[in-house]
Amino acid sequence: MERPLGVVTRGTTNPNRLRRVDNWIVGACGDALRAAADPLVVDLGYGATPVTPVELRARLAAGVRADVRVVGLEIDPVRVAAARPAADPPGLTFARGGFELAGLRPALVRAFNVLRQYDESEVADAWRTITGRLAPGGLLVEGTCDELGRLGAWVLLDATGPRTLTLAAKLTTLASPATLAERLPKALIHRNVPGERVHDLLDALEHAWRSAAGYAPFGPRQRWVRAVAALRESGWPVQDRPAAWRHGYLTLPGPP
Ligand SMILES: C[S@@+](CC[C@H](N)C(=O)[O-])C[C@H]1O[C@@H](n2cnc3c(N)ncnc32)[C@H](O)[C@@H]1O
Repeated sequence: MERPLGVVTRGTTNPNRLRRVDNWIVGACGDALRAAADPLVVDLGYGATPVTPVELRARLAAGVRADVRVVGLEIDPVRVAAARPAADPPGLTFARGGFELAGLRPALVRAFNVLRQYDESEVADAWRTITGRLAPGGLLVEGTCDELGRLGAWVLLDATGPRTLTLAAKLTTLASPATLAERLPKALIHRNVPGERVHDLLDALEHAWRSAAGYAPFGPRQRWVRAVAALRESGWPVQDRPAAWRHGYLTLPGPP
């Protein structure tokens, strides 16, 4: 058995913290998971309590396929032992593991708020190690969010590398899209400086949001949808339809 790759970091987590990304996974990765020969999903780095893998299993079982098997992997053996009473095999189990995925070949890996505490220079290797262990057609969703999961950002990768960047916000509490800057994935957070594309993106989104202030009386959803539409009209390759935008998501190809 390979030594778990990575280091133990802070275990902060919260119930429903990852609901936004989980709902997005159901929509964006559902087809891949339905097509998988083995519906194995790894939640990498679940933290001090197993609440987010418990929720992930429930959401995928209800929204994608009932036979999904979620394995929570943690590099901290104390957290693995603490999670075991929450296991519900075969649909939910816990084991010790790191970026090498403990020898598993999952169809999907969710790694949230894990790389945040690593150095930026370690991201590419971690991505390569994880995506190199996926089942054929497998996907990795790697990102960051705030403590309550109101603001988040993540990258979707496959074996060939990054496919998309998604920004997500709870619109009813969103003060301004500029606040998403603090939640960018590790690969991008230090690149939010003039001259970098992610900086241009956040600037353009903020500008579009301010320009859509006239829509505020119709509610934050209307304002966000208008802002995202304006972003697309200005040339940003925004994906999806307004129906997805209404839920506070904004997806673009590749990390910008
Ligand atoms: C901040 S917690 C995140 C918990 C949960 N994913 C969330 O978003 O609420 C990060 C966890 O990742 C674990 N971790 C860090 N590096 C890891 C690695 N390479 N493999 C597995 N777990 C790792 C840490 O031990 C810690 O418990």
